[in-house]
Amino acid sequence: MPASLRPDVAFDAGATLGEGPVWDEEQQRLLWVDILPGLVHRFDPATGSDDTFGVGKPVGSASLRRDGGLVLAVEDGFALLDPAWQRLDQVAVIEHPGPPARFNEGKCDPAGRFLAGTMAYDETAGAGSLYRLDPDLAVTKLLDGVTISNGLAWSADGTTMYYIDSPTQGVDAFHYDIDTGRLANRRRVVDIPVAAGIPDGMTIDADGCLWMALYGGSAVHRYAPDGHLDTTVSFPATNITCPVFGGREFHQLYVTSARDGLDERQRAAQPHAGAVFAVDVGARGLPGLRFAG
Ligand code: BGC
Ligand code: CA
Repeated sequence: MPASLRPDVAFDAGATLGEGPVWDEEQQRLLWVDILPGLVHRFDPATGSDDTFGVGKPVGSASLRRDGGLVLAVEDGFALLDPAWQRLDQVAVIEHPGPPARFNEGKCDPAGRFLAGTMAYDETAGAGSLYRLDPDLAVTKLLDGVTISNGLAWSADGTTMYYIDSPTQGVDAFHYDIDTGRLANRRRVVDIPVAAGIPDGMTIDADGCLWMALYGGSAVHRYAPDGHLDTTVSFPATNITCPVFGGREFHQLYVTSARDGLDERQRAAQPHAGAVFAVDVGARGLPGLRFAG
């Protein structure tokens, strides 16, 4: 492996289920969540400091708002955090049908809507959904029958949405109607062999390639637009959850990980499980998309 593809530990957080990294280019900080304890983290790579906001319930994902603060997918709906990180307002309560469930990954589309999906805690097949929160705070269900709603990414022109429902072992693409936020024409674009791990979070680079975390696979993979695997980055932790590009030139790939899902022996062998890693992969990311509400 070239030396440049060896990840560094950026922040040895020991997170239970570190997830959803988002780069704030204005503050030059990395936002991320620890889903199960319900913590939103703000990490400053320049100083190594990290502060947290406790949501009081599991938090699946967070995204920046255009006017400051965050939009969150919390266990049972959507919430807005003010710019001072003092006041949390739950703006939508969503009852999950079926077994106990929670929100998982979410991300903003290029028009400033926030999309986030759900999963049953026990991963019951088909018990999850994908929802859209519009800037006027209206909620629309986009997909049903999802199992573990995970990675989301949009092509630079906004017309293609990439989506991972983890147990399907791959990435689907949709035609995305940027004016209405509607999905159409679902098709499979990447298949992941079971032996490589479970497809989890993803981000897209300036060349339109997808960078995908492999939970259980100790890796991040890059897939070219034609679906072929062209880069593998290995990590000293099995459960790699989500990548995002950050840093001044969007050249650092920040990657979250989890201690969750490891037995005692694996935890002892993987002291950096739950860390935020950083690796210069020689590609560039794009500025993150923000919520318009
Ligand atoms: C979920 C985990 C799950 C993992 C792999 C994550 O997004 O939060 O609960 O184990 O994906 O599917
Ligand atoms: Ca995830």
